Amino acid sequence: MRMSQLSRFVNSLTPFLSRSAHTTVRTTTSAATKKAYEKPLSSEEVFAREERYGAHNYHPLPVALERGQGVYVWDVEGRKYYDFLSSYSAVNQGHCHPKIVHALKAQAEKLTLTSRAFYNNVLGEYEEYITRLFNYDKVLPMNTGVEAGETACKLARKWAYTVKGIQKYKAKIIFADGNFWGRTLAAVSSSTDPSSYEGFGPFMPGFEIIPYNDLPALERAVQDPNVAAFMVEPIQGEAGVIVPDDGYLQGVRDICTQHNILFIADEVQTGLARTGKMLAVDHENVRPDIVTLGKALSGGLYPVSAVLCDDDIMLSIKPGEHGSTYGGNPLACRVGVAALEVIEEEKLSENAEKMGRLLRDELMKLPSDIVTKVRGRGLLNAVVIKECKAYDAWKVCLRLRDNGLLAKPTHGDIIRLAPPLIINEEEIRDCVEIITKTILSF
Ligand SMILES: Cc1ncc(COP(=O)(O)O)c(C=O)c1O
Repeated sequence: MRMSQLSRFVNSLTPFLSRSAHTTVRTTTSAATKKAYEKPLSSEEVFAREERYGAHNYHPLPVALERGQGVYVWDVEGRKYYDFLSSYSAVNQGHCHPKIVHALKAQAEKLTLTSRAFYNNVLGEYEEYITRLFNYDKVLPMNTGVEAGETACKLARKWAYTVKGIQKYKAKIIFADGNFWGRTLAAVSSSTDPSSYEGFGPFMPGFEIIPYNDLPALERAVQDPNVAAFMVEPIQGEAGVIVPDDGYLQGVRDICTQHNILFIADEVQTGLARTGKMLAVDHENVRPDIVTLGKALSGGLYPVSAVLCDDDIMLSIKPGEHGSTYGGNPLACRVGVAALEVIEEEKLSENAEKMGRLLRDELMKLPSDIVTKVRGRGLLNAVVIKECKAYDAWKVCLRLRDNGLLAKPTHGDIIRLAPPLIINEEEIRDCVEIITKTILSF
């Protein structure tokens, strides 16, 4: 980002933006808005406005997007890109999928929110559909992925006290090193990433961390009779697409069953066809006790999340003990059904499996002194870039952007490659060409 241009733009707005004792917020805002909207903003102006008015809790790649369709997005200057992040796997069905957009529009004109103070005629339809699809007794609808994780933890604690018989407030939940399930205080309390938890204590008690992909460590941890649950991602997405050994998920299932501990699978990122199966746990044919879903449950149109489990767990929470104003609203439910139907109708799991294989096979041909690792499942993939003075993952992503492909670095040396699951072979080959050209330019 060109800082001089950015600060010049911010300075030019300053007379309109500064709030004095004599200026109401309304007047100030309208003056700035008027000036800023006289003509469409350039990318630089979009960056500057967010910098000026928004919290600095993200570090976006400098590209200002305006439109999306399928596997493509366009920036405010009209440049077209392949989207290889898919909004962290929320846009599995592709941007603005017509069927999901139609469902959203039609329901938006009818009834959007009732709260759960009343029944609505769509929630039950959605509940029936999703529980049959995933073969669980019940679903608890929420909005964001982190709320689904919170709900799973609350269910596990309630179940521990009312069913398993753990002494009140002694229940423990185990997590894996490198996990990511969101940004609430509970979620960061289980995090091992300092940028997630540093400065936000005191932390949630009753959480324990063990290494990921380590069955003996889980076996040791569950010797404690107060353990209620183990919450784990079948593939760790934010940690850099860490794929555990074959048999890990089956081992987790066995240990949890033997010790009467709930296996919570966080499928918020890995679920809904992303890894080549409807759920990532399907690769090992295991059935977790609780599954959390989010992101692609709306195809990127709306925050929709869900927790699935059977009655013995779900019914441990009674009326008034958990909920959300927006959770289960008719708009979300219509969008949710449409988003799930698209995954099934368009056979996105099969496509993700096939295209993912092709992508990895081609990426393996990249020079190994720059790309040291290629890993993933289905269309949740990552390449590890060998860092040196001349380049790192951030610089590679900037050049990928210049060549028409958007991806985001993580942990300094990893680039996640996760396009919408509707991508076809020709597009994959085109993207491989872009990635190869970019890598070879360093
Ligand atoms: C595995 C996993 N769980 C939970 C979440 C949190 O989802 P949200 O950002 O919708 O709260 C994420 C987000 O990236 C995730 O990757």
